[in-house]
Amino acid sequence: MPAGLVATADTSRVEAPMTFKAYLMCAFASFGGLFFGYDIGYINSVFGMPFFIHTFTGKPYPPATPEADFALSAPNTSLITSILSAGTFFGAIVAGDVADFIGRKYAILLGCALFIVGIILQTASTTVGLLSGGRFIAGLGVGFESAIVILYMSEIAPRKVRGALVAGYQFCITIGILLASCVDYATQNRLDSGSYRIPIGVQFLWALILGGGIASLPESPRYYVKRGRIEKAIKSLSSLRGQPNDSEYIQAELAEIVANHEYELQVIPQGSYFASWANCFKGSLWHQGSNLRRTILGTSLQMMQQWTGVNFIFYFGTRFFIQLGSIKNPFLISLITTLVNVCSTPISFWTIERFGRRPLLIYGALGMLSCQFIVAIIGTCVSTSNTSATAAMIAFICLSIFFFASTWGPAAWVVIGETFPLPIRSRGVGLSTASNWLWNCILAVISPYFVGEQYGNMGPKVFYVWGGLCTCACVYAYFLVPETKGLTLEQVDKMLEETMPRTSAKWRPTTTFAAEMGMTADGTLKESIVHDVERKGSVY
Ligand code: BGC
Repeated sequence: MPAGLVATADTSRVEAPMTFKAYLMCAFASFGGLFFGYDIGYINSVFGMPFFIHTFTGKPYPPATPEADFALSAPNTSLITSILSAGTFFGAIVAGDVADFIGRKYAILLGCALFIVGIILQTASTTVGLLSGGRFIAGLGVGFESAIVILYMSEIAPRKVRGALVAGYQFCITIGILLASCVDYATQNRLDSGSYRIPIGVQFLWALILGGGIASLPESPRYYVKRGRIEKAIKSLSSLRGQPNDSEYIQAELAEIVANHEYELQVIPQGSYFASWANCFKGSLWHQGSNLRRTILGTSLQMMQQWTGVNFIFYFGTRFFIQLGSIKNPFLISLITTLVNVCSTPISFWTIERFGRRPLLIYGALGMLSCQFIVAIIGTCVSTSNTSATAAMIAFICLSIFFFASTWGPAAWVVIGETFPLPIRSRGVGLSTASNWLWNCILAVISPYFVGEQYGNMGPKVFYVWGGLCTCACVYAYFLVPETKGLTLEQVDKMLEETMPRTSAKWRPTTTFAAEMGMTADGTLKESIVHDVERKGSVY
C-alpha cells in the first residue's frame, strides 16, 4: 500500500497542475472521433459508384441496364447501411465491460484490432454478404472507440479543459465526415475496384495512428483506483499531469478519487456481474443524483442529439437537394454543409468552458429549431422552383448545422463523459453511446419514408418534424441537464446529489470527499480507506 495520500479539504487543490506535454497527451485520444465520422460518411457515395454496383449486383453497365435499375436493391442498401449501426450498438454496450476488465487503454487497442479485421473483410469483399460481415465487425470496433475514447478522455483530462478536449473528439468526427466525402469524390468515377477499396482501405491509417498513439499513453488513473491498484494510479496520474509521483498535488488528487470511490461503493455496493449491471438502474427516478437518473440522462441526451435531425442532412442531403429541383450542383451543397460542420465545431472549444454545457444545449436547440421552422415555412409557402427561396432554405440549413456543430454536437459527448460515478461510469458511457447509434440507425431507416416521393413526400416540410424535435430538445435541456463545467468528476457527483439542474450552475463545492470520508488530523487520507479500495478493487 502507498504511503498516506495527502488529503485536502481545500476544494481548489483537488487537481494537479499540468504541463503542455500532458495537455497534448490528453488531446491525442480525440483522434478516435475520426473513425466515427469517416464511417458515417463514406458508404453513401460508394452506393452510387458504377464499379461497385456492377460488382455487387452483377448487372452490366448502362445502357445495357436501364439507368433507373442500375443500383443496389433497397434491402441490400438498407442491410449494408444499418449493419454498421448494429455493430456499433453492440460494440458500445460491450465496451463498458471490456474497459473495466482490461482497462480503457487496452479496450481502445482491442477496438482498433476489431476495426482492422472489419476493414480487411470489407476491402476483400465482392459480395454483399462479406461486405456486411466486415461492416458489422468494423462497427463493433467503432462502437468500442466511440464509447471508450469519451470515457478515457473524460477520466484523464483536467477539469478546466475537459469540455474543450472532449469537444476535440467531436471536431475529429466532423473531419472524418469531410475526409470521407473527399476520398469518395476522388475515387467515385474509377472503373476498377479502387473506386470502393480505396475509401475503405484508407481507414487502416486511422486505426494504426490511434492504436500506435494510445499504446504509448498511460492508463486512466480512475480505472486503476476502480481495480484497487493505487500504486499504479499514482504513476499514471503523475505521468498525465507531468508531475513527480510524490508531488503533493498528485497525492491530493488521488486522495479525492479514492475517497469518492469509497463513498460510491458505500452508497451502492458492488456485487456479481449482473448485480453491477443492475446498479446502472438503481435509485429514485425523482432524484437527479441516482444511478437510474444518470443513466436516463446519458441515454436520452444522446437520443436528443440524434433527434436534432442533423444526420438527415449528412445522410440524405444530396437526395434532398436534388428534390428541391432548382439546385444545379447538389454534391457541392453537400460539401458545403460538411465544411460548415467542420469549421463551426472549434468555436465550442472556447464556449463550452466559458459559458458551460447547459447554455450551449439550450441556446443551440433554440437556434436550430428557429432555422428549421424557417426552412419548413419557406418550403410550405414558396415554390421550390424559386431560386431565391431555395437559396434561403440552404442558408438556414447551413445555419442550423452551425448551431449543431457549435453546441449539441460536442456538448452531448462532453456531458455523458461527466455524468456517471466511477462504479458505473464505463457502462453508463457505453449505454449512452449505444443510444446514439440506436437512434442514428432508427432515424436513418425512417427518414427516407418522410421524404420519399412514393411515401410521405414531405419535401422541405420535413423540417417541421426536426423543428418540433429540437423544441423538445430545448425544453429537455432546460429542465433536465445539469451544469458540469469546471468541476472534477468527483465534484460533479456531489453537485448532482445536492442541486437541481436549473440551479446547478451556481453550485460551488464547499468540501472534498477526502475531508468528509476520512481525513486524519495530520492531513492524510485514512489508511483504512485506501486499504478498503485496494481490497475491494473490482473487475465489475
Ligand atoms: C453525432 C453524429 C453526427 C455528427 C455530425 C456527432 O456528434 O453523434 O451522429 O453525424 O456529430 O458532426
